[in-house]
Amino acid sequence: MQNLAQFSLPESLEAFWMPFTANRQFKAKPRLMASAQDMHYTTVDGRQVLDGTAGLWCVNAGHCRDKIAHAIAQQAATLDFAPTFQMGHPGPFVLAERLAQMLPGDLNHVFFTNSGSESVDTALKVALAYHRVRGDASRTRLIGRERGYHGVGFGGISVGGIAPNRKFFGSLLPGVDHLPHTHNLEHNAFSKGQPRWGEHLADELERIVTLHDPSTIAALIVEPVAGSTGVLIPPVGYLERLRSLCTKYGILLIFDEVITGFGRLGKAFATDYFGVMPDLVAVAKGITNAAVPMGAVIARNGIYDAFMQGSDQAIELFHGYTYSGHPLACAAAMATLDIYEEEGLFERANGLAPYWQEAVHSLAELSSVIDVRNLGLVAGIELEPLPGKPSVRAYECMVRCFEQGLLIRTTGDIIALSPPLILEKHHIDQMVDLLGSVLKHG
Ligand SMILES: Cc1ncc(COP(=O)(O)O)c(C=O)c1O
Repeated sequence: MQNLAQFSLPESLEAFWMPFTANRQFKAKPRLMASAQDMHYTTVDGRQVLDGTAGLWCVNAGHCRDKIAHAIAQQAATLDFAPTFQMGHPGPFVLAERLAQMLPGDLNHVFFTNSGSESVDTALKVALAYHRVRGDASRTRLIGRERGYHGVGFGGISVGGIAPNRKFFGSLLPGVDHLPHTHNLEHNAFSKGQPRWGEHLADELERIVTLHDPSTIAALIVEPVAGSTGVLIPPVGYLERLRSLCTKYGILLIFDEVITGFGRLGKAFATDYFGVMPDLVAVAKGITNAAVPMGAVIARNGIYDAFMQGSDQAIELFHGYTYSGHPLACAAAMATLDIYEEEGLFERANGLAPYWQEAVHSLAELSSVIDVRNLGLVAGIELEPLPGKPSVRAYECMVRCFEQGLLIRTTGDIIALSPPLILEKHHIDQMVDLLGSVLKHG
């Protein structure tokens, strides 16, 4: 097999239009990975970089796991592709059954996608269509939340609440409203675990419902823990209150578990962690340990059943992707779920969470740090912005950490850490020491 890492770079890096990247800045001084194993990347110039972010919150079982690589290779040589439109192959049936067993309650029906963005758009479409097939076609409004990130499809950016992701792209979906976000440093700075203040912010849903009337609202989508927008942990009682309001008004509750799914909080899903049951769950990323793109939406029985009416010949949902349930993704996902189970990685994350919490909160003493927050194996470290230069302090910290051997993510002036679940205590120490020293000395 050819080793792609040995390809020499083209003279110009212009051809690849990089996503969510300052292209000119990056291309002037690229940061390139050549290979990876377990907790580390190796850069093209041969340096080891400790992965503090599980890639992009997705490589939960660590990098280049043999079992996953073999499963993909074997599948590629056996059945590279088969349609799942009016045709099938065993992979997605087996995987769907396994996911349904992992999810609580009657979250039993799995629609496969290829990314988090597609999962979100699928969940929103299923919610809209669900009300319509039940004869409740006036429920067309979708509610999201300020600072929410739900990927980059038109549905996702419409319900999402991050201005730069929205402002370039016209009027977006009509009939969308937003809850306020829950982040409040005045009340909740340096909270360990869930902040105590903010449950009442869920009551904003009542205001929105009163404004539009419940009969017009199809669904509410939230990330149980918002990641990309800078690690926002839900206040105690907040998600429970959203659930009860959704139930009261017949609104479907969608949990976007694209980052919280597959062990990030020390349970399989955030729905388990918080004990709050949504109607639809959107997942991606950790489902295949990111080795092959895949996403999924898991629906409760009542939603699936609502579509299974009428003539047997009729297609029940006019939606799907060429690669829904792709054989390679299914093989990768089955091997990934084996690893999670065999190595007890969700329990492991849960066991490490207290150590993680104390370690990341030790950064609170640094003068540039205005907040540290954490849950499971996630942490957010918020920095005081440099005067007149928002985002620069965190960006420079990210570059320095990379140069010194640690991968972190930044959003604005917030650093996010979300390591692979296989990490050891000494990795946590190394991460916190290195980050602390970069923040202290620059
Ligand atoms: C909560 C959430 N939803 C959706 C997405 C979009 O996923 P993707 O980039 O796979 O489309 C992300 C990506 O980070 C995410 O964090």
